[in-house]
Order: sequence, then structure tokens, then C-alpha cells
Amino acid sequence: MAKVTIQQLQKMKEAGEKISMVTAYDYSQAVLVEKAGIEVILVGDSLAMTTLGHEGTTALTTDEMIAHIRPVVKGAPSPLVIGDLVFGSYNESLSQAVHSSTRLIKEGGCDAVKLEGAHPDVIKAIVDGGIAVQGHLGLTPQTAVLLGGFKVQGKGKEAGLQLLDDAKRLEEAGVFSIVLECVPEELGRVMSGLVDVPVIGIGAGRYCDGQVLVLHDMMGLFDRFTPRFVKQYRQIGKEMVEAFMEFKADIRNGSFPSEENVFTGFSREEADALFEELKSHGVHQDR
Ligand code: KIV
Repeated sequence: MAKVTIQQLQKMKEAGEKISMVTAYDYSQAVLVEKAGIEVILVGDSLAMTTLGHEGTTALTTDEMIAHIRPVVKGAPSPLVIGDLVFGSYNESLSQAVHSSTRLIKEGGCDAVKLEGAHPDVIKAIVDGGIAVQGHLGLTPQTAVLLGGFKVQGKGKEAGLQLLDDAKRLEEAGVFSIVLECVPEELGRVMSGLVDVPVIGIGAGRYCDGQVLVLHDMMGLFDRFTPRFVKQYRQIGKEMVEAFMEFKADIRNGSFPSEENVFTGFSREEADALFEELKSHGVHQDR
């Protein structure tokens, strides 16, 4: 697959072709996503929970984000790779936001950055700095405390209109796409029609221009909770536990390693000579 560009994503929206996006956090995951022909990879700050075991996303640092972007970029040359700006790395000043974004691009090697919330001034500064930005509206996990927890956002006329206005402002600021998380389906539909850039939904209904899921959620690899909007395509976690249990049983009953897993380096005569030599040193071993 040729490298996916933001222009191609725009054309897909215009042609009514749905865009697929998934998170990945390391080389092996990226290789698999590349093979599946998914258009966009998000190295999401969800990695704080799925991969580093934190309770939420706020503890993640830019250095940690960069360390995860790098192997993803190596494993997936074709998809557009987006790095998430971590909590606290873009809200102090415009120059801090541009600096953090530049680090993700320069040190991580991703193609674009994503940031949560209605911050058109910050987005404009980053875009003016020559970096492609994806917005993220609706449920924004970094600031979930302010939103009353992990809840559906944009319910009702006022909240809905506010989100639509935010989307327009993000578009004017120069985003190439918007992630819309956990909102009523009607809002996902209206927003996708309202803005020209692709709206990628996660729990935002069936009518968005594309969909994104967290890899661990869709593959059954995250054991703490599974949001209702997730479709679990596989239960890889369960399969892995079963495989580990088989491995343990094989070791205990001696069926692993078997003949095909071992190396031989001695002829019969050499082995005899070795054991004789050992005997002369007082070491007696059964063959
Ligand atoms: O960090 C992440 O994985 C995300 C997705 C939920 C869109 O932001």
C-alpha cells in the first residue's frame, strides 16, 4: 500500500468512502495493522492505560509517547501515523504546544499530531508551525474529570450546538480531521455533514466519515472494562492465557521442548568421550 496522505483521507470523505483508524503502540502491532491495510494509526495516549497500566491517561509524558511512536513508524510505513499530544504538553502556551508537536514529529517520526479539546488558537499555532493536526471533541479522556467522568457528551440541544460550533472553529483553525468520541449518533451525523474535513467517530454512531477503535478493546486485550461502543472482534487475551497455561503444562509434563525444539552438537562417539572425561573428573551422569 502507498503511503496514506491527509489529502487522500479528504478525497475518501468526498467520495463517501469510510476511513478506518486504529491505535497501535509498538512495532509488532504496527506490522499487523499495516498488513490489514488500515488507513490511519493513532499512537493514542490510551497507551497509558492499555500498555503502561495507569488508571487514566494524564500521567503519560511526551518522552514516553515518543518512545512508542518510533517503533510504530518503523512497523507501519503505509498508514498515516498520528501521535497524541499528552496531557499538559500543549496548554501552558502556544510555544509549548508547537514545541511538543515538533518533538513528536522530529523525534517520534509520526506524520501528524492529535490534541483533545476546543482549542482553535493552539491548533492554529501548530498548523502555522507546519504540522498537520487532528482535533478531538466530545468525550476527551484527559479532562474527563471536568466532564463528570466517562459519559456520553453533547446530549440535548445546547450541548449539541456547542460541540458543532467547536467543530467549525477547529476546522477554521486548520485541522485535517476531527475525532468525535462518545456522543449521540445524531450529532455524529450532523457534524460529519457540517464540516468538510473527515470526522472519525468512536462511539459517535454509524454516520461518521470513519471509525476508530482502541486496539486492546477490539482484540479483547484490556481486562478492566470494555466501553459499550466497542465491537470486540477477537478475544486474543483469552487465547493468550490459554496458550500460557498449555506452555506451563507442557513444561511440567515434559512435552516441551520436544525433539524438534532441541539442538544436537555431538556425534555418538563425541558424547561418549565427553561422558568419559566427566567421569574422570568425578562427575557421573545418566545419559
Ligand atoms: O488515545 C486514544 O486512543 C484516543 C482514541 C480513543 C481516539 O484518543
